[in-house]
Amino acid sequence: VRPEPDRYERSRALYERACRVLAGGVSSEFRRHQRPVPLFYRSARGATILDEDGNHSLDFTLSQGPAILGHAHPGVNRAVADYARRGVCFAGQHLRELELAETLQRLIPCAELVRFSLSGSEANHMALRTARAFTGRARFIRFEGHYHGWFDNVAFGNGGAAERIGPREAPTPVASTAGLPSRVFDEAIVLPWNDLSLVEDTLRGQGGEIAAVITEPIMCNHGCIPPRPGFLEGLRALCDRHGCALIFDEVITGFRLGLGGAQARMGVTPDLAVFGKAMANGYPISALVGRRRWMDRVARGEAVHAGTLNGSNPCVAAAVATIAALERGAVPGRLERLGLELMRRLRVAAGRTGERVLLQGPGAMFHLGFTTAERVDDYRGTLAYDRERLAAFVLAMQDRGIRLIGRGLWYLSAAHTERDVARAAATAEDAMRTLSART
Ligand SMILES: Cc1ncc(COP(=O)(O)O)c(C=O)c1O
Repeated sequence: VRPEPDRYERSRALYERACRVLAGGVSSEFRRHQRPVPLFYRSARGATILDEDGNHSLDFTLSQGPAILGHAHPGVNRAVADYARRGVCFAGQHLRELELAETLQRLIPCAELVRFSLSGSEANHMALRTARAFTGRARFIRFEGHYHGWFDNVAFGNGGAAERIGPREAPTPVASTAGLPSRVFDEAIVLPWNDLSLVEDTLRGQGGEIAAVITEPIMCNHGCIPPRPGFLEGLRALCDRHGCALIFDEVITGFRLGLGGAQARMGVTPDLAVFGKAMANGYPISALVGRRRWMDRVARGEAVHAGTLNGSNPCVAAAVATIAALERGAVPGRLERLGLELMRRLRVAAGRTGERVLLQGPGAMFHLGFTTAERVDDYRGTLAYDRERLAAFVLAMQDRGIRLIGRGLWYLSAAHTERDVARAAATAEDAMRTLSART
């Protein structure tokens, strides 16, 4: 019998080579978990990505979110090349940087002042420092299952098995990495999301120590869970009452939910907010934006923020071109319509194959999980998802030419078409049949 050809033969060989030189064979931990092996990619254009074995995939990963206009967008790449020709990094101010900041100020409700960094992790770090500088308080409240980057002060409380996370009313913060100093666990109070009374009780008891409440406005990193009606408004009121900063981490919601982010869409204005990912279609730039009275600490140099590569020409040009293209093409609305249609079709596919799935999210991004639950409201709820089934589904999709993120989050881009949506749903139905056949 002739053996089955291996679709990933070259990636396997390259990964072996990579493990001899790159730690774990990758440059970001999350890439290490791709099955059956972390793939090597040769090129990507629009909604399609090509791997080193010659497999073309329709891509719903989109660089983990950033490629909102599709991969290698010609207009963005042209703007980058044109502007980089004048110089790459002046370590000084330049006109496009100013224009980009003015654009954010015009679009984002809380963006009275702006600072640019390279990554979402950095900008979140700066948001917390700014809140601490303003309030003179050290601690902050964060929520289970939210991801705010990989830095020490937020590298816990975003995961953990049911038996390790403690009781709802007083969760045990579970470290997501080795190497954390023990003091960081005292800096944050971790609470389940979407439960205003727990935040209220905590602030009533310890408000005087709390500099900030940081939240994703939609819990994109686990289950793509929307806030319960009144939850964000409630956080706003509580932060006002206790004098702490409300920080929205809009690294995923930014530019996907609308050009003004979740805050414009949901009508709740935070004191500080962080943007990244989709802002520059894949070029490394992030922004801390906020109300003047909070950002004044940064403006005056009390809360120090710096970075050699901040606001570099190619990244700023990419952001200006990306936001202009998003505005011109009314992209967020289109992504939402396409995404909602894909969610609908995936529900139909699941129904036809007898799979029990839950799809949650606003459309431009959404989560598909295997569970009998009708809805999930917080991280603890996501623990009921069948992760092994999801992993098998993601692999079955990849084998059929559809690339998904392993934890079940799907991203749409302006390059996706209605035909792509139909193809993804039909492929999902086929992939789900293989799951049903296994059990
Ligand atoms: C909500 C959120 N905040 C922050 C980050 C960290 O951003 P970066 O990976 O650019 O450091 C991420 C990354 O996925 C994210 O999803």
